[in-house]
Amino acid sequence: MEKILVNLNKNTYPIYFGNSIIKNLKQLLEKHGLSQNIFFIIDKNLEKYWGKRLNQELFYKNKKKFTYILSPGENSKNYLEVNKIYSSLLENNFGRDTLIVACGGGVSGDLAGFVASTFMRGLKLVHIPTSLLAMVDSSIGGKTGINFQKNKNLIGTFYQPDFVLIDTAFLTTLPKSEILSGMGEIIKYGFLSDQAFFSYLDQNFNHLIDCDLKYINYAIFKSVLIKASVVSDDEKEEGLRQILNLGHTFAHAFEKELNFKIKHGEAVAAGIICAVILSYNLNLLPKNLMMKMLTLASKIKLPKNLAEINLENVLLHMLHDKKNRNGKIKFVLLKGIGEIIIGAEASKKEVISALSKGISAFY
Ligand code: GLY
Repeated sequence: MEKILVNLNKNTYPIYFGNSIIKNLKQLLEKHGLSQNIFFIIDKNLEKYWGKRLNQELFYKNKKKFTYILSPGENSKNYLEVNKIYSSLLENNFGRDTLIVACGGGVSGDLAGFVASTFMRGLKLVHIPTSLLAMVDSSIGGKTGINFQKNKNLIGTFYQPDFVLIDTAFLTTLPKSEILSGMGEIIKYGFLSDQAFFSYLDQNFNHLIDCDLKYINYAIFKSVLIKASVVSDDEKEEGLRQILNLGHTFAHAFEKELNFKIKHGEAVAAGIICAVILSYNLNLLPKNLMMKMLTLASKIKLPKNLAEINLENVLLHMLHDKKNRNGKIKFVLLKGIGEIIIGAEASKKEVISALSKGISAFY
């Protein structure tokens, strides 16, 4: 089992990483002094395959325990569901001595994190991400959130967990569409980091989407290292952490316009390609690199509804993005692999052109 630290002074915590390491959960909870009552939030799809096993690992000794089963999908990520969880905590007499264990993909992690950060001014929290996307991105760095009026993660907090446990064995029961979606975020790290990781992803793309553990373990490990290091440098996204938003202004607008009928990682794949094309159109990125990046990301197959999306509406959503400043859309753009520009601006015409070319790259 590997251990990667997110270094945040008094909020420092480890990410435990490996295959079939869920068996270490009891021991890790004890090591971290997490002997509290456990409120376990688990995604319904996952519960089918892993519920029994996880219950065995979590609910030993005579602790108070409760399992809250969450309906999968972005539609659960709202204040109605938060209300239901708060009510369940209260009805079942969970107090400040509660540990929330969040098990599932990005939705369960963001939602459970939000509940943990707000209920009684903060409960202990452990993340067990089970989707590829949650393993490489959303479970790390303490962003919690819920959607509001179709605006992605509009309400949220920064709240770091006590630890994260990434067990790649969970990937064996994950549908292939989820692996492809997670690849959107992994490829983002390929663009943000270095030539070696970019080439690794490019050369081994088929092994990765087949979830060949030898390859996917390395890609996850490397992505986690990158994310942990960026978050360690800038916990609250005041500077460097903004690079992780590469493609996300486009992606969130796609999700909103398509009523979340696109997976987040799919939207990110399309978003990073639009950002790459915009970078090229603004004479920041050389053509050969744009072509290489486009070839890699467009291997991810995207749903048909994206091809027919209304670009003017997408632009309007982008104009309301929470990352904008002074009424201007702010972009993360690229000058090369690992050469990143934060806070770039572009005209509406340039954005529409990047959107149209970016989307057509996938069809
Ligand atoms: N997903 C971007 C971040 O965690 O900052």
